[in-house]
Amino acid sequence: SSVTIPPPACMLRPLEVPLRYLFGPGPSNVPPRILAAGSRPIIGHLHPEMYEIMNDIKKGIQYAFQTENNMTIAMSGSGHAAMECAVFNTVEPGESVLIAINGIWGERVAEIAERMGANVQRMVKTPGGYFTNTEIEQAIKKHKPVLFFLTHGESSAGLCHPVDGIGDICRKHDCLFLVDTVASLGAAPIFMDKQNIDILYSGSQKALNAPPGTAPISFNDRACHKMFNRKTKPVSYLFDMTHLSNYWGCDGKPARVYHHTGPVSGFFALRESLAILAERRQTKQHSVFLVLRRKPFFICVLQDLRLPSVTTIAIPEGYDWREMLTYIMKHHHMEMTGGLGPSIGMVMRIGLMGYNCEKTNADMALHALADALKNCKKSKP
Ligand code: GLV
Repeated sequence: SSVTIPPPACMLRPLEVPLRYLFGPGPSNVPPRILAAGSRPIIGHLHPEMYEIMNDIKKGIQYAFQTENNMTIAMSGSGHAAMECAVFNTVEPGESVLIAINGIWGERVAEIAERMGANVQRMVKTPGGYFTNTEIEQAIKKHKPVLFFLTHGESSAGLCHPVDGIGDICRKHDCLFLVDTVASLGAAPIFMDKQNIDILYSGSQKALNAPPGTAPISFNDRACHKMFNRKTKPVSYLFDMTHLSNYWGCDGKPARVYHHTGPVSGFFALRESLAILAERRQTKQHSVFLVLRRKPFFICVLQDLRLPSVTTIAIPEGYDWREMLTYIMKHHHMEMTGGLGPSIGMVMRIGLMGYNCEKTNADMALHALADALKNCKKSKP
């Protein structure tokens, strides 16, 4: 019997991938060394050499997060996988969760927690707003959550939220402190242990400059105590930390048993990106956004709270942001983006992350923006 559906014409053409300047909020350009690591030959996900590489990744994440937590792994999946893993494992249905929302990521976590049956309480500010420790403590006292969520790098708003003191407040009220550093890790300092953060996660594709698809996450002893003394099983099998802790050799058992097949190439690339971070020894925080401050680009976030990796600028008056972004992509092969979630129509976002964070790139981005201003239609007032 022969096939009745012919091979699709597109499959008989070679793969084409354009070269682009990824100056949006991620993914960022991947340096050749990391690309090369990702293209090494595949080995089995349960080979001893793979365990060694996973052990290296664990050490690399501990360094990046500044933590000694044993329960430190990389998720097979994007930052969303880590987000769901954190919530699914530490919260049981019916428990109260408090979420700080000042952009898209809090909204996203609130939806995830609602889907698994948590009792979700929201604290909301407009994108770019921030919460004082007093406001946070008052809300924690009122709602008595088992978990408080805060975004460190709010990429939709370009805001890097202060973290100091919040972990202590959470401890005082017997609540776990969960922090999202997907857009900020490697660009803005974070100290998981010193700042008493109970659960911290990030993503591979932003300031770490690895390909999308893996996500570091770490749980301290308080978080482990809560998640390993549950009455119910987490709703996700794939993200169940009982299994993942074994896969990553964190559960003290002598053998790792099959749970799922991790993204082997993605782990090679993540290892290399963490190695580069370790060699660099510090977060790379060129103030390239200062270059972007030149007129007519007005930055939306207070200077002290700016996220170094993603700069949000106001949409220049009279211009259509979609037209500008399309122009910049077409003529400069450069990605910049509009707002996201609640910041759509408010801002344009320029990301210069890790490897991309160079003054020459900031100058190129500025040049492209100026060119778009000259060549895109300005509506009559
Ligand atoms: C996605 O991560 C974004 O910030 O656009």
